[in-house]
Amino acid sequence: MPNVLSRGVFNLFFGSKRQAFASLPGPQPGILGTAGDFLGAQPWDVCARYGREYGGVTLIWMGPNPGLVLNDPVLIEQLLDSRRTEFEKGSLRQELTPTTTDQSLFIAPQSGDWAEKRRIDPFVQPWSPDWLAAQVAPMQAAISDFVDGLIASGKTVDLAPVLRRLTCDAFAVAAIGEKLPDSVYEDFMLLAKGADARIQAKLPLKFVSLPKGFEEARERFYRFFDERVSAARRNPKPEANDLMSRTMREVPDFGDKALAVNIALIFYGGAFSSSTALAGAFHQLQKHPDAEARLASEAAAFAGGPPTLERLNEARWAEAVVLESMRVLPPVRVFTRSPVTDVSFAGVTMPAGATIMVSNQYLHRDPQHWPNPDTFEPARWLDGGTARDPIGSGHYFPFGRGPRMCVATDFAMVFLRTAMVTIAARAKAEISSTEPFEEGFFFGVVLPTNVHTKFITRPR
Ligand code: HEM
Repeated sequence: MPNVLSRGVFNLFFGSKRQAFASLPGPQPGILGTAGDFLGAQPWDVCARYGREYGGVTLIWMGPNPGLVLNDPVLIEQLLDSRRTEFEKGSLRQELTPTTTDQSLFIAPQSGDWAEKRRIDPFVQPWSPDWLAAQVAPMQAAISDFVDGLIASGKTVDLAPVLRRLTCDAFAVAAIGEKLPDSVYEDFMLLAKGADARIQAKLPLKFVSLPKGFEEARERFYRFFDERVSAARRNPKPEANDLMSRTMREVPDFGDKALAVNIALIFYGGAFSSSTALAGAFHQLQKHPDAEARLASEAAAFAGGPPTLERLNEARWAEAVVLESMRVLPPVRVFTRSPVTDVSFAGVTMPAGATIMVSNQYLHRDPQHWPNPDTFEPARWLDGGTARDPIGSGHYFPFGRGPRMCVATDFAMVFLRTAMVTIAARAKAEISSTEPFEEGFFFGVVLPTNVHTKFITRPR
C-alpha cells in the first residue's frame, strides 16, 4: 500500500475526482494511483487477489485515471455480451501491429468491421464442422511424428516452447496441409517477440524498437502463406481438406491475399494459448498419477482404431482433463475493454478510454461455485459437468464470453483433445517438479517457464 504521504498527495490533487467513485471498493491510491500493485506481480494474480479482497468489482487508479477490475459474472456478461458495443478492446490494435495485420479479427474495432470479419471467418462457416472433423487424422499424424522425434532425442526439454512447436505443426497441417518449416517458425517467433515487447512496454510505443531483422522476417512470413495460396490456386487438389483448400472451394470469392493473411494469423491467434493449455495439463497430470493412468489407457484405446472425430468424442477423460486444466490454469487470464464514450457502469460513470480488466482466474476457482476449487479433478466435468458450466459461462470462460468469444474455440478443443490422446498414447511426459511452475507472460498469454520434461516411450 502507498505510504501516508503518497496517499495524501493523491487526495490533494484528485480527492474530488475520487468522490464520484466512492461507492466502489478498492485499494488506496498513492501518487501512481494503484498501479504500483501491478509492478513486479502478474496482472492475473493481482486481479484474482482483488476478487478475494474486494469482491466482484474493484476500483483501480492508473495514475489519475479510474479503472475497474471485474470478478463478477453479471458485470462481465454486460461488458462482453449484452452491452459490448459500448466498449472497445483499447490499445491492443497499436500493440499487435505491425506483427499482425489490419485484417486481424482479434483487433477489429467493434464499431468498425468486426462483425463482417467475424461473419466471413473460415472457422465459423456452415461447412467448418465438416472441415474440423477431417483434421483429427492429419493432426494426429503430425503430433505423432513430433513426439517420436522427442522420444528418440532422449533430451530433457523445456515443455512450453516444445509444445508450441508441436502445436504449430498440427495447426499447419489443418490449415495448409503441410507442417510448418523451421525457418517459417523462426520468423513467426521473431514477429511475436516484436508484438510482445509492445504489449509489455511501459513506454509509449514510439520508443519501443522492433527486434533486429523484423521487417525481413515479416516479409518472409506472410510471403510463405501467399505462396501456398498461389500454388493451391494454380494446382487445386479437389480431395484436399485443409482450411485453405476448403475455403477456396467453398468461398471462391474470398480473395487470395485475404485468405493467405487469414491463415497466417491462425498461428498468432492460437499457438501460444494452445501450447500453454497443453503444458498446464501435463503439469497437473504429473501431480495426479491416477488421472494420468486413466488418460494413458483411454489414449491407448484411441490409438488402436481410426482417428476419427466420432472416436475422439468418446475419449471423455481427455476432454475432462483439458477442461479442468484450463479451469485451474487458464492460458488467457486477463482481457481488457475500454468505454467508447463515458458510460454508466457498475453504478458509476466510467470515462471514455478507462481501462476495465476482466480476469477468469478468480471465478474459475470461486469457492462459492466450485467444490474443492483449488484441486485438479477432471471428474467434475463428467456426468453433466460440461452442461452445468459450459465454455463461455459465468464461472468458466477460458475462451472469453459473448459474441467476441474465441472464434476458434471448437478447433482449439479438437486440437487439444487430439494432442492429449496422441501424446499420451506414445509417451509419458515426465516433469521434473510438481511444484507450481513460474508463470511468465508472452504475447498476452501465460507462459509456463522451465517445466523440465522428458518424454519416455510407452510400451505399445
Ligand atoms: C487454448 C487455446 C485458446 C484460448 C485459451 C483462447 C482464448 C481466447 C480468448 C480469451 C479470447 C477473447 C479475448 C477477448 O474477449 O478480449 C479469444 C479470442 C480470439 N481467439 Fe482465441 N484462444 C485459443 C485458441 C485460438 C486459436 C487456435 C485461434 C486461431 C485462429 C484463436 C483466435 C482467436 C481470435 C481471432 C479471437 C478474436 C475473436 C473476435 O474478436 O471475434 N484462438 N481467444
